Amino acid sequence: MKKKVLVTGGTGYIGSHTVVELMNAGFTPIIVDNLSNSNISVLDGIKKITGIEPVFENIDCKDYIALDRFFEKYQGIEAIINFAASKAVGESVEKPLLYYRNNLMSLVNLLELMPKHGIDNIVFSSSCTVYGQPDVLPVTEQSPIKPATSPYGSTKQMSETIIADTVYAYSNLKAILLRYFNPIGAHPSGEIGELPNGIPNNLLPYVTQTACGLREKLRIFGDDYNTEDGSCIRDFINVVDLAKAHVVAVKRMLENKSEKSVEIFNLGTGRGVSVFELVSAFEKATGVKVPFEVAPRRDGDIEKVWADTSYANEVLGWKAQETLEDTLRSAWNWEQKLMSRDGNS
Ligand code: UFG
Repeated sequence: MKKKVLVTGGTGYIGSHTVVELMNAGFTPIIVDNLSNSNISVLDGIKKITGIEPVFENIDCKDYIALDRFFEKYQGIEAIINFAASKAVGESVEKPLLYYRNNLMSLVNLLELMPKHGIDNIVFSSSCTVYGQPDVLPVTEQSPIKPATSPYGSTKQMSETIIADTVYAYSNLKAILLRYFNPIGAHPSGEIGELPNGIPNNLLPYVTQTACGLREKLRIFGDDYNTEDGSCIRDFINVVDLAKAHVVAVKRMLENKSEKSVEIFNLGTGRGVSVFELVSAFEKATGVKVPFEVAPRRDGDIEKVWADTSYANEVLGWKAQETLEDTLRSAWNWEQKLMSRDGNS
């Protein structure tokens, strides 16, 4: 029988790609999402790719009673991947309590219900934001945790602590914390991808929207950083590669291969790419020009960060495979699909 995995936030950007990879690997993902930052049409995209109708429940993970009922209904779930969280750094500064409520309450509810329903394994979406501006690059999992620069970042740090404390208290529980660097791109089919709400905060959605004329100009925030070309440096990781790491993590726990009850892995490519480099790589990969201007630095931006991925490569046995060029083309392909879909609707 196929093993059941609960995917909270499974209609979101990384969640939906992970659902596809779980299906490809022979699992039965069960999606729980309240659609607060995603669209129900994502389910059609998943079905088009996999031929499988995803199981979906519209539930808010902050609702303990609804979640409890959910676990009564779907017995035999073996692992949880918890994506359900708010993720806009700027919004979190304006609405801190929304972030503490959404991100922490959902997690606490899940952790409380796991022992009650006999579920031992949880994979958590964490972020390289926990490292702040690292003193040494690339960043290993042992790099110090720096004070968070936003409530969003605080929720990721707090969530990691909450999970570690809970796993310590309940000997059956195991967790894998995945610290993502900068996920970009879309499924190569163009059936699922990122659906930014309103004006995108993140770089690549802004680039693709500018390339197709939805936005006039990309603003590059700062060209006076202490980097070769003056713009910030990030480790951009293909979303399908990232999704596959979740499948590896789930298998690792289910096959009792974890070496510790809480394991932490950096998920990146190990390569730092500057904002200017990303824009020219996009133009080269797609042949489309991206008008841009240099704007003042954005508050709270980290100057440079990229991952040391050797621990994930060796211990998890996972490595990012996709090239930056293919990843950028996948994002462009997705943007064009969205444009034609919106144009037709
Ligand atoms: N950038 C621009 N113009 C834009 C958007 C972004 O120049 O219109 C620049 C930013 O200043 C930054 C880089 O592109 O230098 C990347 O910015 P993103 O907003 O795409 O990504 P961040 O690295 O700021 O944030 C991401 C995730 C967060 C996560 C963080 C961890 O969005 O959820 O990585 O460092 F916490």
